[in-house]
Amino acid sequence: MAPDGPAGAGAPAEGGDLETQQWAIQRRIDDVFAKLGEKFGDLSGRVVVRIKPETTFAQIGGLREAKSIVRSFATALTDPELYRKWGITPPKGVLLYGPPGTGKSLLARALATETGSVFYHLKLMNLTSKFGPNTGELLQEILAVAKEQGKGVLFLDEANALSLEHLLPPAQAREASARLVAALCEKLDGLDDFSRMIAVGSTSRTDSVDSSLVAPGRLDRLVEVTLPDGPDQQEILEMARKRAEAAAGRTLFAGLDYRSMLPPMGGMSGAEISEIIRRALEQKVHAAGQGQDNGLVTTQDLLQQIDRYRRTREMVEKIRYGQYL
Ligand SMILES: Nc1ncnc2c1ncn2[C@@H]1O[C@H](COP(=O)(O)OP(=O)(O)OP(=O)(O)O)[C@@H](O)[C@H]1O
Ligand SMILES: [Mg+2]
Repeated sequence: MAPDGPAGAGAPAEGGDLETQQWAIQRRIDDVFAKLGEKFGDLSGRVVVRIKPETTFAQIGGLREAKSIVRSFATALTDPELYRKWGITPPKGVLLYGPPGTGKSLLARALATETGSVFYHLKLMNLTSKFGPNTGELLQEILAVAKEQGKGVLFLDEANALSLEHLLPPAQAREASARLVAALCEKLDGLDDFSRMIAVGSTSRTDSVDSSLVAPGRLDRLVEVTLPDGPDQQEILEMARKRAEAAAGRTLFAGLDYRSMLPPMGGMSGAEISEIIRRALEQKVHAAGQGQDNGLVTTQDLLQQIDRYRRTREMVEKIRYGQYL
């Protein structure tokens, strides 16, 4: 009854090869972890490789300017020689900054998808927590593996974690972080100018990103990824709705009244909007599990989820700011 969505449609013949290639790269990276793990303790599974990421720019709502800047990096991956023809070298990196859940990871993935590049997701918070100041050694090995694979997007997620302030007292953190960032910058500087690798850093905390990381020739393009305004929120909500309906192969939502939904959604990120949709659908699943059929998701259902979500968020903030401690 539910037809395959476009992403799930019959895998092309090359699917098997790509899977094998992905598995092989992931294995080599896991080997790096195993080797360094002997030195620093268990480190498995902190870098995820995707040969064929599926996110496209069309799935990202709002962010017109950010999308167009990130998109402009595609040529650096697919045709770096074009830069040579104009007497310059391609850019090596970009730093995406903005509040949590606004689409920074989506942009990095879409760049890899659009250019057919391998996507290396480095969760720096996890890596530095385990490796501390020795993270530079790991990055070097990963870059060495990646360089052999051709086009690659090296996603440095949570770039603020390079500051090591989550690990060490401030004075020590500053010193150790400076060394780590220097090691990373050295690797970026060492990349061949036409190597078809782009580093994409992401952070919601620009205050703790080391300035040498954003120096010329490194992550020297800064792209702001903002919270969506009303029309962009509507676009994101519509995308989430269509995605769910495509996955289910049927209509799930009644006509939605955005005029009543947008005001209480003010300030919500794309991630929060997706979560609202998810929770409204989850409610339907629970009801159906109890044998009740309560029809399509309505504006009222979504308003209820928005309200609940806001109240939980306020509570979390109160806890965070110590009013309940
Ligand atoms: N602009 C957007 N368009 C469509 N969906 C979005 C958008 N922003 C966020 N989302 C939804 O939120 C999820 C999380 O987004 P993403 O991981 O890109 O956020 P992020 O900016 O990287 O957040 P963080 O700073 O927490 O890492 C996405 O998988 C998507 O479902
Ligand atoms: Mg992210």
